[in-house]
Amino acid sequence: MPTVYNARDAGNYERLMGRWSRRLAPLFIEHAGIADGEEVLEVGCGTGDNCIYLAKHGWTVIGVDYVDSALVKARAKASVAKVEATFVRGDVTKLDSADVGDNFDLIVDYGCLHSLKGSDLEAYARAVTAVAAPTAQLTIMAFAPGALLGVPGVTSDEVGRLFADGWQQLSSVEETTTGRRGQTPGRSYLFERRV
Ligand SMILES: C[S@@+](CC[C@H](N)C(=O)[O-])C[C@H]1O[C@@H](n2cnc3c(N)ncnc32)[C@H](O)[C@@H]1O
Repeated sequence: MPTVYNARDAGNYERLMGRWSRRLAPLFIEHAGIADGEEVLEVGCGTGDNCIYLAKHGWTVIGVDYVDSALVKARAKASVAKVEATFVRGDVTKLDSADVGDNFDLIVDYGCLHSLKGSDLEAYARAVTAVAAPTAQLTIMAFAPGALLGVPGVTSDEVGRLFADGWQQLSSVEETTTGRRGQTPGRSYLFERRV
């Protein structure tokens, strides 16, 4: 796989990121200002905190990630939380070969896009656009280059360029939930599909 971040060990992932994601999921979803809807896809769902939060709030949720152990953990957490969420193994740059379906009202990315680089960025944008409903919203939290955890990062210009075709950018704001000691390494983006 060409990406640099790969949560191969779901236990380590939970220790490193899970405790963080659990607290951030509601903040991120609320901060993004997304409208209620029906079908949501989380790309790079990890161990499932955003999916579980969304399922609790009435969405029909599918999470996709290419790390099996993260998906196993996500399913176990959804079961404990007593919510329905489907977790599918797949590469976000090749969603056409993952069995995720299409016509999603909302697509959520919390920390996946910024781990891609090169032609995978364009492949991601094409893949996400292909599974979006005609009035879909897309919300992304991505670190800038040189931020945290060694991910390549992505600039706001690059994010805007990736979704210049067929999407309207509604907002791009500093993501204060990810900051430590005054750093704000991430931005949250909200796009709406324009067909
Ligand atoms: C920082 S984690 C965030 C997980 C989750 N969104 C959360 O908030 O807890 C990024 C996730 O993206 C996944 N990922 C990265 N590149 C991917 C790809 N090309 N296809 C599928 N998943 C990918 C990783 O396996 C990891 O679980």
